[in-house]
Amino acid sequence: MQNKGFPADWLYQLKQKNNIVSVMSKYIHLEKKGGKYWACCPFHNEKNPSLTVNEDEGFFYCFGCKESGDVISFVQKYESCDFFDAVKILAQNAHMEIPEFTGDNDVKEKKQERERILSLLDYAYKHYQENLYLPQAKIAQNYVKLRGFTKKELDNFKLGFSIDWNEMVNFLRKKGFTYKEIMDAGIAQCKNNHYYDIFAGRLIFPIFNAFNECVGFSARVLGNVDYAKYINTAETIVFHKGKVVFGINLLKALKQQGKLDKIIIVEGQIDVIAMHRAGFSSTVACMGTALTIDNVKELKKISNKVVLCFDGDEAGVKATIKSLEILNNEGFEVKVATLPNVKGEHDPDEILKVKGKDALANIIENALPTTDFLINNELKKYDLKKSDERGKFAKSALNFLDYISSESEREPYFEKLRDLTNIPIDVLKRDFNKSRNGQAVDNKKEKSNEDVLITRENGNIRAIKFILSSLIYDKDFVDKKIDYIKLLPRFKDIIEKAKQNIPISTYYDYFNIQDNPILRDCIGMDFSEYENRDKQYFEESVWLLASQILIEKQNELAEKFKNCDDKQERLKIIQNLNSVSKALREKNLEDFYVR
Ligand code: UTP
Ligand code: MN
Repeated sequence: MQNKGFPADWLYQLKQKNNIVSVMSKYIHLEKKGGKYWACCPFHNEKNPSLTVNEDEGFFYCFGCKESGDVISFVQKYESCDFFDAVKILAQNAHMEIPEFTGDNDVKEKKQERERILSLLDYAYKHYQENLYLPQAKIAQNYVKLRGFTKKELDNFKLGFSIDWNEMVNFLRKKGFTYKEIMDAGIAQCKNNHYYDIFAGRLIFPIFNAFNECVGFSARVLGNVDYAKYINTAETIVFHKGKVVFGINLLKALKQQGKLDKIIIVEGQIDVIAMHRAGFSSTVACMGTALTIDNVKELKKISNKVVLCFDGDEAGVKATIKSLEILNNEGFEVKVATLPNVKGEHDPDEILKVKGKDALANIIENALPTTDFLINNELKKYDLKKSDERGKFAKSALNFLDYISSESEREPYFEKLRDLTNIPIDVLKRDFNKSRNGQAVDNKKEKSNEDVLITRENGNIRAIKFILSSLIYDKDFVDKKIDYIKLLPRFKDIIEKAKQNIPISTYYDYFNIQDNPILRDCIGMDFSEYENRDKQYFEESVWLLASQILIEKQNELAEKFKNCDDKQERLKIIQNLNSVSKALREKNLEDFYVR
């Protein structure tokens, strides 16, 4: 059990005042059906609703991905924030004052450290920003002009300048931060006992999270160099390179104003700024590499329509292909804008400069669905005049048809491939189905192996879950004579809580449900599946577990008997054995009664 850092009754109040249905409705679309609320689960990819919300008990449960939680953990997961921040949001919502946090010391310290670093970064980006307008910043001001940034853009993206090695460190020291804190925030490094600003002399792009908190920086050298053009904050407790999305704060604001259609993703932050200037204000960047799962999960909360608009060079195409797989797996509607692989116009910033807004709008307008893009790209690798290359091309191109879910949509692609390769459609289809079935068989094999393992290891898991959930939901068929801890000693904590008859949603306070899949499934138990057989199933489950314990006891006694020489002792064992056998024969549960 865990200490969440707030009094249990206060948390209960908080949840009472934050009705789970109304809170969740702010984030996702809920529909009432048969007395229950349903939604498409935001935590996995699905088209039909499998997430239910139990309003009376104050929790949600997804039958698809098994995600589950109370109103606090929903906010926590949806906003990707920690428990404390979710509590803060909900308390604000309900106009409740937050009591002193009494969590474990290490949780508390981590929390304080995080807040301290965020406050440091807040001072830092604002100070860099001021520095950009000082007379000493002439070189940066010139550069900014050269790149075409307007004052409005500088303000909107909070661009700044690091004057030299010392200035920022001294400033933060005066604000009361320690050298260690300045290093922990990723701003300074120590060399020969001297602490210096790693971004010295660079143009600063602060990076914000979705809550508008500055978590780190990307900094560009002024002018062209052959060493690192950009330096980014290294991993810190608030900056995780694979998670940040440059511009996510502005994207979220756009969505809140109801002005978002699709997300455009580019490679660099300068591209983002140029795109906003040209009116493509739903543009963000993933900072120079392919998208990660974390990036994509973050974006999905905002929209599931994406146009990838990476650089037209080889690196950009590679990043596109990698990102496509992740986006498609997560159920995005993805299109790919193809930028030219021409020096001087291979990224959005350059195209806007050289060819103008309309040219880029045109490129985005003509963005291709995943499969078309991949086929076109594959096409470049083969010489289709040669018949063996045609075959090779067809083989890899067929793989891309997997991204299309309906047969009718797949049809034109077979035609296209036939036209390109001269291979008859039947043959293409046969090969496609063959490779698909191969995959299907593989998946099945894996799955059934897994299933066997589960049943072998936890033959009782269904019984255990049914008993525990019947206790948790205080079902009237539960036999009160039985001490369930004797039956399920491993689940003592849960059984004790069930005995106290606490509200279901408070289980989330006492247990870490994320790491407790059994309890999670118990809370999500759908008793309607058992109809009128619930009492019978309960009794069968109890007997299943009880009989196993008895059989084990029987075996132990038999073993003991074999190794025992003492006559008196042997007699006792036989008596015991007899009573166990009798209990087994008569299905007698007395051994498990409450005493
Ligand atoms: P690019 O090199 O394409 O940047 O890298 P760019 O936007 O065209 O830059 P300019 O126009 O020359 O100023 C794209 C992104 O990759 C990351 C940065 O986030 C950059 O915006 N990057 C690039 C680095 O992190 N380090 C580097 O050395 C280069
Ligand atoms: Mn670029």
